[in-house]
Amino acid sequence: MKKICTVIGARPQFIKLSVVSRVLRREFQEVLIHTGQHYDYNMSGVFFQELGIPEPDYNLGISGGSHGQMTGRMLAELENVLQREAPDMLLVFGDTNSTMAAALAAVKLHIPVCHVEAGNRMGSLENPEEVNRIVTDHVSSLCLACTNTALEFLEREGIGERSRLTGDPMYDAFLYYSERVEDQEYMELEDIDGGPVRLPNEFYYMTCHRQENTDTDEKLDQILQAMDALDAPVVYPVHPRNCGRADRLRLEKGYRHPLSVDRPSQLEKGYRNTLLVAPVGYRCSVFLVNRAKKIITDSGGLQREAFFAGRPCVTVFDRAIWPETMVNHCNQLARPNKEDILSKLEAVPFFDFKYRPFGDGHSAEKITEAITNFLA
Ligand code: UD1
Ligand code: UDP
Repeated sequence: MKKICTVIGARPQFIKLSVVSRVLRREFQEVLIHTGQHYDYNMSGVFFQELGIPEPDYNLGISGGSHGQMTGRMLAELENVLQREAPDMLLVFGDTNSTMAAALAAVKLHIPVCHVEAGNRMGSLENPEEVNRIVTDHVSSLCLACTNTALEFLEREGIGERSRLTGDPMYDAFLYYSERVEDQEYMELEDIDGGPVRLPNEFYYMTCHRQENTDTDEKLDQILQAMDALDAPVVYPVHPRNCGRADRLRLEKGYRHPLSVDRPSQLEKGYRNTLLVAPVGYRCSVFLVNRAKKIITDSGGLQREAFFAGRPCVTVFDRAIWPETMVNHCNQLARPNKEDILSKLEAVPFFDFKYRPFGDGHSAEKITEAITNFLA
């Protein structure tokens, strides 16, 4: 049996892995290497547990630091592991630092690389993920694209002959788990201090963690102010990158309730319409996507899931990364500005469910087939 080393490290990769690994392991020996980029239980462990992903064979425990430091440390450690394992192929997903570090380590050892979610481009090297995507695609021997648009980018960049269209494993996962949470009536949430939170009947679902939106107070404050103006509460599972900033802003924007003049301890917290909650597991996230009035996000995964579920979405970013979703007002870009976000949220989208640019929900089989053919 041929051997595949799969490298994962960040939340969205665990989700994609969960569907691909199930099929891949029928044909190949898979050695799983977790870089450790995401390490909190609710950013990593919960996905392995809930989605039945096998324990990683290695966990390198590498996280934090600047992009260069993190990538460099991963590169050195991954080289050691790949030398020891000597796989027939390396498999990577998406566009994180773990993806690029693994691809570089493998290509230098002449191990062929398969990149799942190849070919996405937004046209700016200021975006760290764009750098990871371009480098990974160009050192890969097999580029597997989720959509036709991505395949066209690969063709334009001269690497079309080693590229294939497989569909999106995120779509496979979303279909599979949506069915499994369909009958669930309720989901438990925890606030960022670990206390229980009651999920409202009607709510918006927001995630926001990109460094472009959360590395300064001003932008995050504008986004949260927009949420405060909505007609239903906003459920916001906060990524650890910006949890401290969001919580501090909430306290700084606190106000004194008119009845609490004699009781200064009753300083209310700001952004009263937003429930800052701890990151949730994938099943809960799928539940929230399917039940939300609308979705506000800067996540590549969540904007696609909104589209899969037919939920209107506003993506707080200046460039499109999944242009297939940006039709008929289904998903619109907004600046990190209160008025712009609110005006985009007013649009009435039209979802054409016959339009399925992300495949048929069986990308895992196509990915496995492409690897089998490559290694034949
Ligand atoms: C990374 C990806 C991004 C993806 C996101 C998914 C890169 C360049 N970016 O961004 O594409 O959207 O993952 O969630 O790889 N932290 C914790 N606990 C954790 C994980 C992170 O406290 O479990 C903190 C660390 O202090 C870290 C910071 O969050 O420094 C940022 O984490 P990092 O992995 O560098 O980037 P993400 O923002 O998670
Ligand atoms: N997600 C989750 N819990 C959360 C927030 C998001 O399970 O608290 C899921 C979400 O449903 C989607 C994926 O994580 O499947 C998106 O990952 P993320 O936003 O971290 O990364 P990106 O998609 O931006 O690369």
